[in-house]
Amino acid sequence: MENERKKEHIENFLKSNFKSNTLFENVYIEHFALTDLNFDEIDTSIEFLGKKLSFPLLVNAMTGGDETSFDVNEDLSRLCKNFNLAFEVGSQKVALKDEELVETFTVVNDVLDKKNILISNLSALSSFDDVKKSIEMINADAISLHLNPAQEIVQFEGDRNFFGILENIENIVKNIDVPVIVKETGCGISKKTCEKLLSVGVKYIDVSGFGGTNFIEIEDLRRTDLDFTNIYSWGIPTAKCIIDCRKISDDFTLIGSGGIKTGEDIVKAIVLGSDMVAIAGEILRYLIHGGYKFAEDYLKSLIYQTKMIMLLLGVKNIEELKKVEYKTFGKLKDICEY
Ligand code: FNR
Repeated sequence: MENERKKEHIENFLKSNFKSNTLFENVYIEHFALTDLNFDEIDTSIEFLGKKLSFPLLVNAMTGGDETSFDVNEDLSRLCKNFNLAFEVGSQKVALKDEELVETFTVVNDVLDKKNILISNLSALSSFDDVKKSIEMINADAISLHLNPAQEIVQFEGDRNFFGILENIENIVKNIDVPVIVKETGCGISKKTCEKLLSVGVKYIDVSGFGGTNFIEIEDLRRTDLDFTNIYSWGIPTAKCIIDCRKISDDFTLIGSGGIKTGEDIVKAIVLGSDMVAIAGEILRYLIHGGYKFAEDYLKSLIYQTKMIMLLLGVKNIEELKKVEYKTFGKLKDICEY
């Protein structure tokens, strides 16, 4: 059952404990003691999809399809409304198959209003018709298509044939009337993948790199017949994804994601070349373990930490933050040199 799987994804995400690394720790940015900024005037707002966000954060695709998802989507979208952040629902495939599950997604429409940003989500293998229906289902501002071959292959009932996926994305990008984001789910978008996506007209890329949620582990925990323990370290560290993708072009929106947890991660992701960031697992963890108030306090700290580091770098807005110089060292430097 597809909705059972959604529940297990959340349960297994909370059980997963493989220690992975974004490699943000191999990024050095320099403290500026002579900062002369007023903390209260630091501006973290950005434009995204033609609307204004107060903070450069998207709460990334996670769920929909069962009772837990109903509550999670309601709470996460409420947080996004209150903090004026962007929100993306989890894969809507379950609701395309079973109309009774539609309300676990449309619950977000009761929370969000027109000035909020809401994004649909489906596999990049989906038909044009399903993409259209998913957007209409929640009246979304954009659709995000996920590339998750590692997850599918480990998933017992997952897809095995990815033939024609780039052509499918191209067809959707050229014919759908809302912006299209292409994302990974934790193994990362490489330079080669990014180049191919840009070549077919994609203008929004969410790298979802290695270092946070680990779907090889999450799916492995659902299986008893085969063992994938030795492959949990597969994927491109998020810091490398951002550096490599941004090197190709400035002419697309880059969402830095995969293992973002702290204000320092957010700052580093933007300094390396992201226009904004996305978080999935960490906010879910706060919500499920601590409840709405804990998740709210987590976001408050995240925003405060980000503004604090911006002050300590002497930058007063996100455009200035993008221009801050950085140095890489250690493993990140090694794997970013060609
Ligand atoms: C996800 N993610 C995800 N992505 C997607 O495109 N469609 C989906 O349905 C889901 N489902 C999902 C469930 C759960 C429980 C988690 C934690 C994550 C992937 C997510 O959007 C993101 O790309 C990765 O999780 C990496 O970011 P974090 O979690 O490391 O911040």
